[in-house]
Amino acid sequence: VIERTLGSVAAAVGGRLRDADPAALVTAEPAADSRLVKPGGLFVAVVGQRVDGHDFARAAVAAGAVAVLAARPTGAPTVLVDDVVTALGALARAVLADAGSTQVVGITGSSGKTTAKDLVAHLLRRRGQTVAPIGSYNTEIGLPLTVCTVDRATRHLVLEYSARRQGHIAYLCTIAMPHIGVVLNVGTAHLGEFGSRAAIAAAKAELVEALPADGAAILNVDDDVVAAMRRRTAARVVGFGVERRADVHADRIQFDRLARPRFRLHVHGEQVDVRLGLSGLHQVSNALAAAAVAAEVGLGLAETADALASATAVSRWRMEVHERADGVVVLNDAYNANPESMAAALRSAAHIAGNGRAWAVLGEMAELGPESVRAHEEVGRAAVAAGIHHLVVVGAAAEPLAAAAAAAGADVHRVPDPAGAVALLANLVRPGDVVLVKASRAVGLEQVGTALA
Ligand SMILES: Nc1ncnc2c1ncn2[C@@H]1O[C@H](COP(=O)(O)OP(=O)(O)OP(=O)(O)O)[C@@H](O)[C@H]1O
Ligand SMILES: [Mg+2]
Repeated sequence: VIERTLGSVAAAVGGRLRDADPAALVTAEPAADSRLVKPGGLFVAVVGQRVDGHDFARAAVAAGAVAVLAARPTGAPTVLVDDVVTALGALARAVLADAGSTQVVGITGSSGKTTAKDLVAHLLRRRGQTVAPIGSYNTEIGLPLTVCTVDRATRHLVLEYSARRQGHIAYLCTIAMPHIGVVLNVGTAHLGEFGSRAAIAAAKAELVEALPADGAAILNVDDDVVAAMRRRTAARVVGFGVERRADVHADRIQFDRLARPRFRLHVHGEQVDVRLGLSGLHQVSNALAAAAVAAEVGLGLAETADALASATAVSRWRMEVHERADGVVVLNDAYNANPESMAAALRSAAHIAGNGRAWAVLGEMAELGPESVRAHEEVGRAAVAAGIHHLVVVGAAAEPLAAAAAAAGADVHRVPDPAGAVALLANLVRPGDVVLVKASRAVGLEQVGTALA
């Protein structure tokens, strides 16, 4: 972090100090969770849905926080502002300005932001000090918190930009303006909130609209809606794609026993053979996006291939592959779920199973709005079509999935909760089976994956 006095923090965020020494020095990154406060850090008192951060102000200071960024006096040393989230954004903006030459890479898309972010960061570390969040941290709170960890030695900052409503990404770009922007795909995640795929696309296009003319827009040309964003940016466009001959593309794609891709990578006319350490048929696309970014920062092709080979799944529960001693392969992809990532995971699980037996432990895909029932039915049918004939469906909300899979001829078991799935599978899974575990975050299926592994 870049150290600054409380007086400087107050000036950056337009706040006033209460019960606080303007000369006191902030020496550690801010945190919005009082349990994560580091000595010398700032505690950011956010009013959440369940808790009000202001109630934890004293605890945070007792844990070592220098002061609290808050919207009302807390009894502890406080930087008082009208709106805490806006102030946090302003602080992050000031940090980036002080850092000087940090180059921001922004990633958006319906699926794969964190996976691609981790890959990009892994590649860029070869070029210099790189900051990227663990996990997602892609909101108006998480993104500035990550930005605040930058210091003057940071060359690259890799961020994911989530679109929870129109204007959201545009706002995040005012905090950290990307020089390189990546759009992975436009799917149907959060369809309930946006109403249409076109509205989702418009929200994601805000990333490339924010790019400067000397920046680069890295667009997935396999996705027509993303490819069309080339008309919405002043930046130079670099296309990547599996299916088409793009600036950055792949051919001779093959997958090993654990669905790890191997392919010929083409980057602006040069080519190299690549083996990925990550599992999943969809990882080729994520790797192409990362390779396109690497080329922008001048990483050589051989080094790109070498770094891609050593990449592992760093953020939890995204296509984690566990091979048990008895040969059972557990695919813990329980971080979240939407129709596209479900389809990708089902195809990957079926590939790994080959002629063997595949199970899918599936739960609700949340936030799909009026399309929800149909989307669940489609996933049920897609599982069977992919060759997965044994399903464990967790929770009543996923019943349309269960019914459609059963109608398509699958062997379907219904359980009320994750514990029920663990108990059931203990008796049913045989050596050599493949078990995919996936649902929206709230279902909590990661514990099934952990228990099985
Ligand atoms: N290119 C892709 N296409 C489809 N699914 C993908 C792709 N990349 C990753 N996934 C799957 O999507 C799920 C979410 O992955 P990841 O966490 O990387 O996405 P995200 O966009 O960061 O999600 P969130 O919006 O929750 O932050 C995982 O199941 C992952 O395996
Ligand atoms: Mg994410």
